[in-house]
This record gives sequence, structure tokens and C-alpha cells, in this order.
Amino acid sequence: MNKYIINGGKRLCGSVEISGAKNAAVAILPATLLAEGPCVIENLPNISDVSRSLQILSHMGATVNYLNPSTVFVDTTNITSPSVPYEYAKHMRASYYFLGVLLARYKHADVAMPGGCDLGARPIDRHIKGFEELGCTVSIEPGGIIRASAQSLVGNHIFFDGVSVGATINVMLAAVKAEGVTVLENVAKEPHIVDLANFLNSMGADIRGAGTDVIKIHGVSSMHGTNYTIIPDQIEAGTFMAIAAATSGDIVIKNVIPKHLESITEKLLKIGAVVEEYDEAVRVYREGPLNKITLKTLPHPGFPTDMQPQMTTLLTVANGSSMVIEDIWDNRFKYATELCRMGANIKVDGKVAVVEGVPSLKGAPIRASDLRAGAALVIAGLMAEGVTEIEDIYHIERGYENFEEKLRSLGADIKKVSVCDKTVAGAL
Ligand code: EPZ
Repeated sequence: MNKYIINGGKRLCGSVEISGAKNAAVAILPATLLAEGPCVIENLPNISDVSRSLQILSHMGATVNYLNPSTVFVDTTNITSPSVPYEYAKHMRASYYFLGVLLARYKHADVAMPGGCDLGARPIDRHIKGFEELGCTVSIEPGGIIRASAQSLVGNHIFFDGVSVGATINVMLAAVKAEGVTVLENVAKEPHIVDLANFLNSMGADIRGAGTDVIKIHGVSSMHGTNYTIIPDQIEAGTFMAIAAATSGDIVIKNVIPKHLESITEKLLKIGAVVEEYDEAVRVYREGPLNKITLKTLPHPGFPTDMQPQMTTLLTVANGSSMVIEDIWDNRFKYATELCRMGANIKVDGKVAVVEGVPSLKGAPIRASDLRAGAALVIAGLMAEGVTEIEDIYHIERGYENFEEKLRSLGADIKKVSVCDKTVAGAL
């Protein structure tokens, strides 16, 4: 177990390279099971959710070789064990994407209930409804195994009751090889949905409309291997944008798609940062005070829920009272308790937080409760006076590549230490 120790109060300046998108990578890697031949995936982030996805593929019998630190060769031709047991599924939400791909390839899938961040209830009814409308039977077996099977998958017109990233991806994965045409309505439009569709099309799928409310899929009988480069991570980029604003810094954030960052940029401008856009970079700096704002999370192209904790943290030291409405998840303010331990004034009532700005945060020992909450606490530590120690940083390592190295290169005083070592040392 590791923790971060941050000596706060430094201005972060310089440039940082953004890695490939986690939420695209964890959908694209399972999708390599649909290829009759090898795939080479580039710009793969070096994070634990990616290692876990590759472990699942290896467990199934796929050949997985790194060609360089961000490029992996995956050949799923000789699969021997097409299921995802609990010990693999429990670590991450995206393990359930194996349901869609195994269904498409074998018409049968046994995948244990997924893990992932605890953000409140995370039902999978929309995934199940979508599979059923393609002709599958879905049951929950003893031991928490989701079993889906079908004689044949047949295209259908499927309307989702609510927008879901995971259900859009899973049903799209199942439908690529279904007979006939599948139309998915009221789908998610996040950049990683478009990236997955582009990846599948590069393997021979016929998917149109990804990025709009309606996706149309003409089923194909076979798909081939491909070389594909994953898009940059919107949320990692947004996190560094928030860090520049939080530390009165000046950071050039490279390898980004500025269009994907528009909703974040808009809020940062209102908060008082300056954002300059370039072709594949944004520069964010701040000279004046932070202003209060109202923030509401929404599906893309609205403000992303995965940036809510980082932005709320900025608002803890803004002038005045801000309101943050979390419209996606039931319970995504757990980190507020930790921020209050650092001197923040946040009142949470269900899905609404009222943040009364305070002059400064003070360093404290705190604990990350999930991935983005962890990133938010790092921002708090960077802003705070004194030393902040953050435990349970394995949550952060699920989604941020070399986070502390990147922060150090910008001038942060942050180090990662082993909690076990310290406990043992303390006992001696
Ligand atoms: C994805 O989760 C992301 N995870 C999350 O990012 C992100 O917060 C979320 O989308 C929203 O943008 C991955 O891509 C791996 P949803 P997902 O299905 O797919 C309800 C991060 O920090 N819902 O779009 O699980 C659900 O309860 C992670 O990187 C149903 O009711 O999210 C929620 O209220 C955390 N039934 C809403 O829809 C369903 O069958 C959106 O969930 C599915 C979802």
C-alpha cells in the first residue's frame, strides 16, 4: 500500500503530455476479441485498469506483448477460456464489456459482477435490456456470475430509457456481429464511444452515428485485426487544467483534443483561469482570484461527472458560495468529508453540494475513496498550506499514468511512500 505526501503551496508550471484515454482503452482491449487476427493498440495508458484488462485477455489465452511502453500487440485467435471469473472482474467496472464481446463471438458469456468506483447504485439493467432485445437470455447465476446466451443475435431497434456509457458500449459490442441492422437510440456520446466505434470500424464493423443520439449498426459476419491509436484522455487533461488553475500555475497540456475539453474550459474561464487552445494542446494559467460558479454534471457534451470532484475542490477556495449538482451518480461527494478535514466548508445534501469558499486549505492526513476523488484530494494537497498525506492511492493509479512524476516535473513537491514500510519502521 502506498500513499502520497504532498508539501503544498507550489505554483505548477511547464508542460505535460496526456496519456491515452482510460475509458476508451478498457473498451477497446476487450473488443480485440472480435478480430480474426492480431491487433496493435497504440497510446495505451500505463494504468492499472489497462493491466487488469490485459490480464483478463491473457487469462483467456490471448497472446499479449508490449512492443513499447504504450503499444501492445494482442492476438485473440486462440482463446481457451472465454469467461471472466470474479478475481478478475472485481477490480474494475469495465470488466463487464467482456459480456458484449463474448456474446458477439461465442453467443455465450459468463462474466462475474464488475467492481469499480463506489459512486452509489450502479445497476446494469440497461445492458441486460439491450442484450435481451438482441435475442439473448440473461441470468444472474450463483456466485454473482452474469450469464448471457443466445441461439443467434438478431439486430433490433433499441431505445435506452436513460443515457448510459456502459450500456451503449456493451450493446454496441454485442451488435456488431448480429444478423441485420441494429439501431440504438438515446445513446451516450462521450469521446470514448466514438473512439470505440472508430476502432471497431477499422476492424471491419459497420457502425454509423457514434457521437450522436442514434447509432446504426449493420452486422458483419467477420472482423479482422487492425492497428489503432487511442484518443487522449479527456479527464486526465481536465485534471491538469484544474491543477493549473488551483496552483495559480501555468501549464501547457499536450496531446489533447481541445474539442473534448470545451465544457471544462468553459467552467474554468468562469472560475477565473485563462485557457488558450492550440491544435493539440491547451495552455491554462491563472493570475487573479477564483470565482464562485454553479456547476451541474451531465452526459457529454455536458460537464463530465468525472471532473466534478476536481472542480469542486477548486471552488473550496473561490470567492463566495458555489453550488455543485451531481446529476449522474447518487453518491459522488464522499471526498467532501476529507476536504472539510482540510478546512473546506462544504455542505452536501444528496446530489447537491454548497461550497462556501475559504481563504485556504490546510494540509491533513486524508484518504482517497475512489479514482476521481483521489485526484481531487491531490489537487487539494497541492493547493493547501503544509503537508497532506493521501492514503489508498491505488484508486488514483487505476486511471492516472505516472501521476506523481508528471506533477513533480511541473514543480510539485510530491512523493510516493510505502505505508507498510512506515508502519513497520514505526513499530521497530
Ligand atoms: C462510465 O461509467 C465511466 N466508466 C465512468 O467513469 C463515468 O463516471 C460514467 O460513465 C459517466 O460518464 C467507464 O467508462 C469505465 P453510465 P458507467 O452507465 O458506464 C445509470 C471514472 O472515474 N445506469 O453512463 O458505469 C447509472 O446508475 C469512471 O473514470 C442505470 O440506471 O456509467 C448512472 O446513474 C467512474 N442502468 C447513469 O446511468 C444501467 O444499466 C450513468 O451511468 C446503467 C447505468
